[in-house]
Amino acid sequence: MSNKAVIHIKDLTKVYQMGQTEVHALAGVSFDVQENEYIAIMGPSGSGKSTLMNMIGCLDTPSSGDYVLNGSNVSKMDDAELAEVRNREIGFVFQTFNLLPRTSCLANAELPLIYAGMKAAERHERAKEVLTKVGLGDRIDHKPNELSGGQRQRVAIARALVNNPSIILADEPTGNLDTKTGEEIMLLFEELYRQGNTLIVVTHEQEIADHARRIVRLRDGVIEKDEKVEHPVLANQQFA
Ligand SMILES: Nc1ncnc2c1ncn2[C@@H]1O[C@H](COP(=O)(O)OP(=O)(O)O)[C@@H](O)[C@H]1O
Ligand SMILES: [Mg+2]
Repeated sequence: MSNKAVIHIKDLTKVYQMGQTEVHALAGVSFDVQENEYIAIMGPSGSGKSTLMNMIGCLDTPSSGDYVLNGSNVSKMDDAELAEVRNREIGFVFQTFNLLPRTSCLANAELPLIYAGMKAAERHERAKEVLTKVGLGDRIDHKPNELSGGQRQRVAIARALVNNPSIILADEPTGNLDTKTGEEIMLLFEELYRQGNTLIVVTHEQEIADHARRIVRLRDGVIEKDEKVEHPVLANQQFA
């Protein structure tokens, strides 16, 4: 385990009790993630992707095994401790955006800072900064229903970035977008990666996974393959 491991996962299992039967959603998963990696997690339906994301995102705890996030052993934490770590360390991006529909982009983007207890003026400032970063500096007072799907996902990405988290965790981030808009979101992820962020993207689409630098493939609750992407999409593209 290197000093810069943001994530250290060892022999992680998750067993769901379904009446008489046990479902081994994760059956012993081990892997490390270093700072500024860009990883896609792939696998067929039912392979354990969402379960693993819930563990990594501190939304749930494992049945056994260790999960060390930035040096603290999260697998042993109670719900209150988990919530605190989650808010500080993880930026979530969901397929369905999960924005508050009746509030402005600014209010949506600054939500994690309210939980973190930051003062209003400082919060607005920081939220404006990240909205500008994702190309929505001129839309801060708009509500999500006044925006396109791609713009909504950008608001969600701004919200994910606002706390300066250790990891951006995206679950099928382009699943509700057309191909062209999905590509624009992947372009934004590429920029975030180049700026030093650590990205984990769950996807069942090979074209999306090919943007990452490493692909972890799950099957039946175990890692089937964990490999480097030889020629990542956008890797040779110049940025302004
Ligand atoms: N809350 C739950 N209760 C019982 N079984 C579950 C629960 N969540 C997931 N599972 C089971 O665990 C396995 C992995 O599910 P999941 O992590 O959702 O896979 P994926 O996201 O790759 O489709 C599946 O067999 C699924 O039915
Ligand atoms: Mg799933």
